[in-house]
Amino acid sequence: MKIEVLTLFPDMFSAVMSQSMMWKARDRGLLDFQARDIRDFTQDKHRQVDDTPYGGGGGMILKPDVLVRAVESVKGDADTPVILLSPQGRKLTHEVAAELSRLPRLILVCGRYEGVDERVRELAIGDEISIGDYVLTGGELAAMVLIDAVVRLIPGVLGAAGAQHRDSHAQGLLEGPHYTRPPEFRGLGVPDVLTSGRHAEVDRWRRKQSLKRTWQRRPDLLTSADLSDDDRAYLAQLDAGDAE
Ligand code: ADE
Repeated sequence: MKIEVLTLFPDMFSAVMSQSMMWKARDRGLLDFQARDIRDFTQDKHRQVDDTPYGGGGGMILKPDVLVRAVESVKGDADTPVILLSPQGRKLTHEVAAELSRLPRLILVCGRYEGVDERVRELAIGDEISIGDYVLTGGELAAMVLIDAVVRLIPGVLGAAGAQHRDSHAQGLLEGPHYTRPPEFRGLGVPDVLTSGRHAEVDRWRRKQSLKRTWQRRPDLLTSADLSDDDRAYLAQLDAGDAE
């Protein structure tokens, strides 16, 4: 996958994109990443990227001529999705990340200041994504969150041991608890089933823990999760207060 980001702060991406899984993805040739400086697409001697809003009100707005030129020159003739990161976008979820992870190329545009001139949306933006109902000072952190969530779903990025299918949200549920050595820590043990070697039982236990955690913390997710008859029976037990 190729991801190009248009930003006023390309250096913000350096640390995140050159370590851990993002670096492995690039090193393995699974991700080609480039951060492009919007300022490089200005044509005036002051390299001005923003201006005051018509109608007053303060704050600065990213100029349409610069931003549209930047998008068009990065995009070329290709039919590549151009996504603006903004608090007004559709919300980033596992489904959105999975949908984007199947695309060969993405262009991400990071807004700054009070926003972007509306004509940029009309002329150059195909999609708008928000990472949550709060306002960041710019789209850069949101773009990095989106990139991380998308790239880890590209086959091969997490290696053979990757268990993305079991992630919280991948099946519409939260994941249950995990344990590793030592078997006892400050008086707390590990559930016996996990050390029993009985894999079918472990799977059943994990499914129940996942249902229980979702029921406790995010019951809203249960209405759209894909549930079996056994799952529903267990949830009914939880509701009745007689599940272990
Ligand atoms: N830019 C500012 N706030 C944002 C948010 N919540 N999501 C995406 N981009 C943003």
